[in-house]
Amino acid sequence: MKKIKIFDTTLRDGEQTPRVNLNAEEKLRIAKQLEAMGVDIIEAGFAVASLGDFEAVKMIAENVEKSTVTSLARAVKKDIEVAAGALKKAKKPRIHTFIATSPIHREYKLKMTKEEILKKVTEMVTYAKSFVDDVEFSAEDATRTEKEYLVEVYETAIKAGATTLNVPDTVGYRTPDEMYELIKYLKENVKGIENVDISVHCHDDLGLSVANSIAAIKAGATQIECTINGLGERAGNTSLEEVVMIVKTRKDIFDEYETAIDTKQLYPVSKLVSLLTGVTAQPNKAIVGANAFAHESGIHQHGVLANPETYEIMKPETVGRNTDSLVLGKLSGKHAFVQKLSALGFEDMADDKVEELFSEFKKLADKKKYVLDEDIISLVTGDAAKIEGKLSLEHFEITRKDKKPKAEITISINKEKKSGEAFGDGPVDAAYNAVNKILNDSFVLEEYKLDSITGDTDAQAQVVVILEKEGKRFMGRGQSTDIVEASINAYINGINRLYKN
Ligand code: KIV
Ligand code: ZN
Repeated sequence: MKKIKIFDTTLRDGEQTPRVNLNAEEKLRIAKQLEAMGVDIIEAGFAVASLGDFEAVKMIAENVEKSTVTSLARAVKKDIEVAAGALKKAKKPRIHTFIATSPIHREYKLKMTKEEILKKVTEMVTYAKSFVDDVEFSAEDATRTEKEYLVEVYETAIKAGATTLNVPDTVGYRTPDEMYELIKYLKENVKGIENVDISVHCHDDLGLSVANSIAAIKAGATQIECTINGLGERAGNTSLEEVVMIVKTRKDIFDEYETAIDTKQLYPVSKLVSLLTGVTAQPNKAIVGANAFAHESGIHQHGVLANPETYEIMKPETVGRNTDSLVLGKLSGKHAFVQKLSALGFEDMADDKVEELFSEFKKLADKKKYVLDEDIISLVTGDAAKIEGKLSLEHFEITRKDKKPKAEITISINKEKKSGEAFGDGPVDAAYNAVNKILNDSFVLEEYKLDSITGDTDAQAQVVVILEKEGKRFMGRGQSTDIVEASINAYINGINRLYKN
């Protein structure tokens, strides 16, 4: 069997999705799930980018054991030093260094000659090697680079000690045929390439990232860079769940290939990432979208009832949808709850954390008839989203006076309770006005998004807000079976993040 390594960059390129902003705790929660799912390499961030990124990479490096943990670094000494510092305690550290190679980047961005770039590759890969054995080199915008020059660049990187060569389709420009030809060409022409991993990193600007990655596998790529739900810069990256399921489902084509991914974790991890990032997969998204296994037409429903294979090429259970029939309710005990956590891939939790989540679950079960998988995932994400902030909601009440909604709110500020009231256009507006009044502060509400986590009228709502103050933007999240409460919690969560920075 040929193993295809899965390199997940949700926490680095995925975090470059506009408006996505995760804190270190949230990143660690995602990283632990990626590890549990069998991801080979986790790109934990870009350590030099900010103190927050450094902390997140460090925390993940210290807590992940099975997967290799990497940080991105430009081909710059300082970046490599900071990445190495953040990865110091990693069991399996990798430094991922890159420099652009295409004519347009050479001329306008780097203002460097071909020779100068080759020199940099030698120096910086060698420098990265002085910290770790495992060094990945990326030629940014490789697919728009002259292919003869690309051969020189990669040979230089191999000579300097690179163990993985990454071929990024940075602007999502190539088609599958071209990608196949390019990887084949590199395999045939780069000396020493047989001793290293060949990786591709495809963007989705033309909607071809998955197709390009699959073509690259056929041509000999051994590592695919991808993200959960296809998150990433602009139109995003190759979607991890799609590549993994293509390799698994099309055994007629990929009989000699395998990945180490436990596909039953795909749906829970996708949900976890959408809840934490606030970016919901579109309903018709392959594998993880709400409609991916829904059969609407009568003809299809009839066919599926007679034999699921009439219209289903994969079983929903294979990707972790309806993992088991264990639906929890208010009579469910701790044992069933722990079993459910484990079925969803949350296995590494400390006892006091499980205890805390169990008591949250009990509160939820009092409000909802059935507690579904999505609810449990949302309890875990709600917990990861909690930030030790100054503010928390104590009490709220919405009434109407002369048909105008009025909110009375009590929040605790550093444990001291303060109350206020205000009117608004609607209950949420009134509540936000009351919070502002109590704090004697104001924030621009740039975005407000309400989603229901599951179906039914007793479903939990998740609210995501983007708050702006003095040029800084912060995301806030809140969830509850009560829409107004979820909205206030999201607002307070955003303010806590803002005040913390
Ligand atoms: O898209 C890209 O080129 C990248 C590299 C830094 C790997 O993200
Ligand atoms: Zn990228």
